[in-house]
Amino acid sequence: MREQPYDQGVRVLFDAAAVRERVSQIGRDIASGAPGDDLVLLAVLKGSFIFAADLARAIPKPLRMDFLGLSSYGRETESSGIVKITQDLSQPIEGAHVVVVEDIIDTGLTMAYLLDNLATRKPASVKVCALLEKPSRAIRNIRIDHVGFVISDEFVVGYGLDYDERYRNLPYIGVLDPRRARRRAVREIRG
Ligand code: IMP
Repeated sequence: MREQPYDQGVRVLFDAAAVRERVSQIGRDIASGAPGDDLVLLAVLKGSFIFAADLARAIPKPLRMDFLGLSSYGRETESSGIVKITQDLSQPIEGAHVVVVEDIIDTGLTMAYLLDNLATRKPASVKVCALLEKPSRAIRNIRIDHVGFVISDEFVVGYGLDYDERYRNLPYIGVLDPRRARRRAVREIRG
C-alpha cells in the first residue's frame, strides 16, 4: 500500500470505512461472547468516547454504559506512568460482566492500574477491548480480549485520540507528523 502524505500534520492510517467495518465486527464478537444479562460497557475517557459510542450501537444486546475518566498523559507523547482518576463510575459493577473500552494500549500502565482498581469492585468478569494496540511499547503485559488494529510505534490521533486535546474529531485514525509534535513540545518547555 502506498503511504499517504501528511495533510494538516496527519497521515491517514485507517480511514473511516475501515474503522466502521472493524468496529461492527468487534461489536458482534462482544455480543456473541458476552455471558449473563448484566453487560456493562465501560468507556475510558476521554480517548474512547467515539469508539465506545459506535461500539455500543454495534452490540445487538441490552447493556449498560458507564464512563471512567482517567488521565495518564500530560502534554507530551510519552507516558508518565502516573494515572489519575478524573471521573469515577456512576453505578456499582458488582456481579456485572464488564467490557472495558480503551482507545489504545501503549505501555499498558494505564490498563494495569485500571484492572487492579476494577477488581476491588467485584465484577463477575472483566474483558478488555482496545481500538488500538502498540505491542512494541508494552511495559506491562495486558490480556486484550478484543483489539481493533495492531500498530507500530507511531503517535496516532483521530477517532477520539488526541494530541494536546486536538484532533479527536477526525473521522479516521491517522499518524501525527512527528515534527509537529516536537515543535509543540519545544514551545511548551520554553513556556
Ligand atoms: P499507556 O498507559 O502507555 O498504555 O497509555 C494509555 C493511554 O495513553 C491511552 O489511553 C491514550 O490516552 C494515551 N496514548 C498512548 N499512545 C497514544 C497515541 O499514539 N495517541 C494518542 N494517545 C495515546
